[in-house]
Amino acid sequence: MKSIRTDPGVRPVEVRLSSGLTDFMRQTARPGLINMAAGIPSDDALPVDGLREAAGAAMRDRALSALGYHAPEGDIELRELIAARLRGRGVGVGAEGVVITTGCSQGLAIMISLLVKPGEVVCCERPAYYALLELISRAGGLALQIPSGLDTGMNPDAVEECLSRWRPRCLFVCSSLSNPSGATVPPEARARIVESCRRHGVRIVEDEIYTDLRDDGGGEPMLARDDGSTVSLVSSFSKTVAPGLRIGYAVPGSVLEPFVRRKCIEDIHSAAIAEATVAEFLRRGMLDPHLGRLRTFYGARRRLAREAVLRAFPEGTEVSAPVGGFVIWVRLPEGLDLDAVHAGAMASGVSFCHGGVFFAGAPDRPCMRLNCAKASEEELVRGIGILGGLLKG
Ligand SMILES: Cc1ncc(COP(=O)(O)O)c(C=O)c1O
Repeated sequence: MKSIRTDPGVRPVEVRLSSGLTDFMRQTARPGLINMAAGIPSDDALPVDGLREAAGAAMRDRALSALGYHAPEGDIELRELIAARLRGRGVGVGAEGVVITTGCSQGLAIMISLLVKPGEVVCCERPAYYALLELISRAGGLALQIPSGLDTGMNPDAVEECLSRWRPRCLFVCSSLSNPSGATVPPEARARIVESCRRHGVRIVEDEIYTDLRDDGGGEPMLARDDGSTVSLVSSFSKTVAPGLRIGYAVPGSVLEPFVRRKCIEDIHSAAIAEATVAEFLRRGMLDPHLGRLRTFYGARRRLAREAVLRAFPEGTEVSAPVGGFVIWVRLPEGLDLDAVHAGAMASGVSFCHGGVFFAGAPDRPCMRLNCAKASEEELVRGIGILGGLLKG
């Protein structure tokens, strides 16, 4: 890693929002397109039968509570089921510490609104989830993107240096299978990041949305190393069960009360029928077998895509090797005109996610995120071959 003192890319900057993202996402809906741009997996990954059963049970057995107003914190049974899963991963939390949110997006948005005032510095990964950059921008914060290893994520030495130098307000990290890099922060680095933030009085918001897709089942979150005074956790069932349910959760820790108040002002509570459906899905033990199927499906797709990229892309290309999930991150040799490659790919019926949207300023080098699970196997290999041809010019 370059010293952050001499690396001009590592400093707090105003987020320069990319208008390109909306265009990319709209284009991906084009019929016949080999879609490697999407941030969602294939429809085959949805547990439709299980959800039909769970939704039926919710309407049959608890229609009144599932159709009425309830407490802003959400369905108590669902909160207990989530707390029990977290306890199994070393987090000391009960149902009272869990708040149901409307997607993980709401957890991130509430945390930003509670923690960030205009002009304050917010640490995040480099590259970072683009909507987080948008939230930082909306709050008037400055994004400080901390150097991240291709497969190991946020670098703890860089964290320590950035905290001492720029006194940020808070730090956001997707600790497992980060979006877009797919990186997972190793246990020792997690401990060091938590320790640095505790010492500097900086709150960590740990985004765990992809953790359950890890091949090893998840491991301990950063929150397992804390009592909630430094770390808050946000997550959802969007990547594991179904994004359309919009059911997420947060363990805000010591900011629990302000978090719930803000949540209540925003939408009173999340959709009770969707909460009841997810509770039934979990209570019936349907999540873990479903996760097992997803891990097998995504693992095969990632291997296929990585091999195809290594075969077809120009020399000097680096490809991530995530320990789960359905995206790979590709760093390309410097000097390539990725906008031209993107235009050429779209004209050939292939889309990818342009890596520039994950940087508040300029990226260090051209990069792209590839979804391996949306297209069929045949399309995936063919699409990567077409991209390789365009990249080699
Ligand atoms: C890292 C990360 N956090 C949060 C979200 C938002 O999740 P949700 O759809 O549950 O609001 C996403 C969605 O792509 C994501 O990739």
